[in-house]
Amino acid sequence: MSRRTLSFVCQNCGAASPRWQGKCEACGEWNTLSEEGAERAAGPRKPGKGRLFALEALAGDTQDAPRLASGIGELDRVTGGGFVRGSVLLLGGDPGIGKSTLLIQTTAALARAGHRVVYISGEEAVAQVRLRAERLGLRDAPVELASQTSVEDIIATISEGKLPKLVIIDSIQTMWTDTVESAPGTVTQVRGSAQTLIRFAKKSGACVILVGHVTKDGQIAGPRVVEHMVDAVLSFEAEGSHQFRVLRSAKNRFGPTDEIGVFEMTGDGLREVTNPSELFLSERDLGSPGTAVFAGLEGTRPLLVEIQALVAPSSLGTPRRSVVGWDSSRLSMVLAVLEAHCGVRLGGHDVYLNVAGGFRIQEPAADLAVAAALVSSLCNAPLPADGVYFGEVSLSGAVRPVAQGAARLKEAAKLGFARAVVPEATRAEANGAIQVSDVGSLTSLVADIAANGRPPARAKSGGEDG
Ligand code: TYD
Ligand code: MG
Repeated sequence: MSRRTLSFVCQNCGAASPRWQGKCEACGEWNTLSEEGAERAAGPRKPGKGRLFALEALAGDTQDAPRLASGIGELDRVTGGGFVRGSVLLLGGDPGIGKSTLLIQTTAALARAGHRVVYISGEEAVAQVRLRAERLGLRDAPVELASQTSVEDIIATISEGKLPKLVIIDSIQTMWTDTVESAPGTVTQVRGSAQTLIRFAKKSGACVILVGHVTKDGQIAGPRVVEHMVDAVLSFEAEGSHQFRVLRSAKNRFGPTDEIGVFEMTGDGLREVTNPSELFLSERDLGSPGTAVFAGLEGTRPLLVEIQALVAPSSLGTPRRSVVGWDSSRLSMVLAVLEAHCGVRLGGHDVYLNVAGGFRIQEPAADLAVAAALVSSLCNAPLPADGVYFGEVSLSGAVRPVAQGAARLKEAAKLGFARAVVPEATRAEANGAIQVSDVGSLTSLVADIAANGRPPARAKSGGEDG
């Protein structure tokens, strides 16, 4: 092998460098460069005369992207109504989260519906996949199974006979292709194998699902370019420490990216959860004062978290202000606005604020939920259990709109919340799935909450609150 065909490729971001370096100049990670053979085609080639091809008009006869619905409602919702012919999906998730389980259930459902589906496992032996299928009660489903890792062999085999409708590759990190000289699992191999499989999907019209491992910082391992090459990127995540799994789409050329599918991992596989609110609400102290649900965003993704506040008379000269999961200067600001504009006196009270589940909120959009939780605790007035809050509070006490109001409302509705308290401008973004009440200023929110207050039931000693 001549020296020219080698290069050093960052295993984190896929950037190539002509020599070894301790730090990748593209992504800044240390110790990620490793030597890999370049793709064979990279050698110098004589420029030939290009082949002529016909250009087509935008208007023309094209069938609507025909979809292959799995019949698993939560999955079909996320893909946008089923798998599209010739499309390639990347399914990412932590090890053990249930990717293989979800896919074996999907293939079984499609196979039982009479479609040809092929499940290729590069990680497990056929017997292991069989055992799982048996445990799930799917042994009779006519899924075609193999344990293989050579992309060329796989494509040659599945191209025989009737073309499959769906091909599962579990996982892309275990595949290798002849066109690339590096070891399996390296960035170049992952990219090369993905490319070959994508070409197969586009040519044959089969839908291919690639399973991708996730690195410790939550990214699908291997080059980000795989994410750009595929038509859709789905991620399968655990919600909290529970049996619940959430399927989200981070990218989807043929469907929405703001839908989620909720599953529960049970003894016999993944069960669809059609009413997630039950689960979500079951964990909460319903009807206790001082808790408000904040409809937040994590990156581009809506995320609902519970904010807990405790406001109690202080015995200290300087009352305590304690915050976990939020910015303490932001809390001071909200407290100051409550005092200055809403007549809420907190000078003699200790204030504790906690974001449930160990989340850390960065957004100012949580101001309104924090204020609601604080006032609710102070007035001993529980907030509606099916309500969410979001909005930024300005120093004048006005409630300002925040980004992605529609996405927040949609997620709240999906999770079973029935009403939202939002800034005035967000009302226009509501789509009817959830009842929206807008607040122009913090003063009106405080008045609303205080109106429902009960006199604090403070027991003198050892008594129980009512
Ligand atoms: P798996 O689908 O193998 O995860 P992945 O492919 O994402 O690595 O799921 C493995 C986990 O799921 C394992 O910890 C056992 C659990 N599980 C169940 O709880 N019930 C089941 O019916 C099955 C098949 C797995
Ligand atoms: Mg697996």
